[in-house]
Amino acid sequence: MKGVILAGGLGSRLHPLTKITNKHLLPIYDRPMIYYPLATLVNAGIDDILLVTGGNNAGDFLKLLGNGKEFGLRHLNYTYQEGEGGIAEALGLCEYFADREPIVVILGDNIIGGSIKPAVVDFQEQGGGAKILLKEVEDPWRFGVAELSGERVVNIVEKPKDPTSNLIVTGIYLYDHQVFDFIKTLEPSKRGELEITDVNNMYIRQDRMTYEVLDGWWTDAGTFESLFRANSLAAGHKI
Ligand code: G1P
Repeated sequence: MKGVILAGGLGSRLHPLTKITNKHLLPIYDRPMIYYPLATLVNAGIDDILLVTGGNNAGDFLKLLGNGKEFGLRHLNYTYQEGEGGIAEALGLCEYFADREPIVVILGDNIIGGSIKPAVVDFQEQGGGAKILLKEVEDPWRFGVAELSGERVVNIVEKPKDPTSNLIVTGIYLYDHQVFDFIKTLEPSKRGELEITDVNNMYIRQDRMTYEVLDGWWTDAGTFESLFRANSLAAGHKI
């Protein structure tokens, strides 16, 4: 199983903080944001990792992380996303790296207090398809919201005005190699991006999607409120 961290985009919701640096290099308590998703993958036993970044400051990731020695890695892979084409576009750049192996994908601004190792193990036993990690939040309209029916997730709605539940799709996804075929069929959404929610709904329509609810705290860090929340959560929980 290989790992992918998506750390591109322009971070426009955090201007002016992100005018001169990449969102994922901003501090979360005592370390740069990117350390957290990287530690999440390494702690789950993933050691073949690709970091997708972009913008003007891509070179800073190399300066900061090098070959990942601080995380016990011998090597780290990098690739570059031009512009802001969305999460699914960034993931599309990883096909060559994945080389038909299953992948675990984490958004560079997703920070957790627990471990994704149980989900990784379960996905390996699942034998293909996809798995998403869900979490209950107080502001579901900011996210992809999951609709469940019994043990199955039957639909995901991206940023609904009237969410049907508080259960949202976190930025942690496990996929087999079919994900790259789905990405090639995507059309840009209203916000002009290729949406990962559309990819997840394709797996759902084929009945090849499972889910787990993530243990421990979870937050994103792409807005001022969530960045502040990430700092206070991380301050109370050292990685
Ligand atoms: C993205 C996804 C959304 C998901 C969220 C998790 O939102 O589109 O479905 O719930 O990440 O962090 P974005 O950060 O692009 O608004």
